[in-house]
Amino acid sequence: MKVLVTGAAGQLGHDVLELLRLRGIECRGADLAEFDLTDGAAAKAFVTDYAPTAVVHCAAYTNVDKAESEPEICAEVNGMGTMNMVRAALAANAKLVYISTDYVFNGSGDKPWKPDDEYGPLNVYGMSKVQGEDAVRSLMTRFFILRTSWVFGLNGKNFVRTMLRLGEEKPELRVVADQVGSPTYTRDLARVICDMLPTEKYGIYHVRNEGFVSWAEFADMIMKKAGLSCRIIPVSTAEYPAAAKRPLNSRLDGSKLAESGFAPMPSVEDALDRYLEELRSAV
Ligand SMILES: NC(=O)c1ccc[n+]([C@@H]2O[C@H](COP(=O)([O-])OP(=O)(O)OC[C@H]3O[C@@H](n4cnc5c(N)ncnc54)[C@H](OP(=O)(O)O)[C@@H]3O)[C@@H](O)[C@H]2O)c1
Repeated sequence: MKVLVTGAAGQLGHDVLELLRLRGIECRGADLAEFDLTDGAAAKAFVTDYAPTAVVHCAAYTNVDKAESEPEICAEVNGMGTMNMVRAALAANAKLVYISTDYVFNGSGDKPWKPDDEYGPLNVYGMSKVQGEDAVRSLMTRFFILRTSWVFGLNGKNFVRTMLRLGEEKPELRVVADQVGSPTYTRDLARVICDMLPTEKYGIYHVRNEGFVSWAEFADMIMKKAGLSCRIIPVSTAEYPAAAKRPLNSRLDGSKLAESGFAPMPSVEDALDRYLEELRSAV
């Protein structure tokens, strides 16, 4: 196996590369410095030259609120950029892993979303990730689409880091309590990606840490585990305006993972414990 990982300078791409190397798998990372996804010729030239047997496509436009004011750029990177990666992977006869999101759903009800449920994105970012999924599904057969949610990793900004910083500075914080989902540690997601890569078990999977929490519950968990006295005040989405509308029900049904013979994801709490430990040892 020879693997190309896009978004190598981001949270997930970094951890996928690290794990591939640990497993002794030939791999290479690429980010904007190597090629811009939106340049189809550059993407194809880079992939053809490296000739991978698999592409893990982690690169994306990920600023959900900013996307509302620059929808064309977001669609170009996540929609057209993914189309470019699909074409490049096909030219190299490589299988492809595409990372997608809970934001492809409309967040109604309280039942966990299944992989075959209908799309209903509420914001520009979610729509662009649907375009990316469509590009993969319409052109390829050897693909894995992994929808994940609320990602945190060592190599980048995320909710956990923000809470740790604000928790040091403020006595209390207002955090949204009516959006429910599963925070996901990039190391755990990277493990699943690396387990799937050598298989032919193609399709759409939901991969997130086990357990559902609101942002406020997760913030509270972070404060307690980090030994911070900052008090979390639960508020509604309506009380906390943001540029992009977000789904209230971001629960993803992850049962297909174990049904397909892959090791299950650890719990949110276990993931947070390991993440905080890694942050401490990195200081
Ligand atoms: N973060 C989340 O909570 C979350 C939730 C669900 C799904 N996902 C999905 O999971 C995947 C990984 O997310 P992440 O948090 O690891 O993302 P990330 O940290 O933002 O990393 C994405 C990387 O892609 C690069 N990139 C952006 N535009 C590019 C372009 N035109 N050409 C080449 N590279 C480009 C970025 O470079 P710059 O930083 O220089 O722009 C960045 O290094 C993404 O597909 C994302 O949509 C994320």
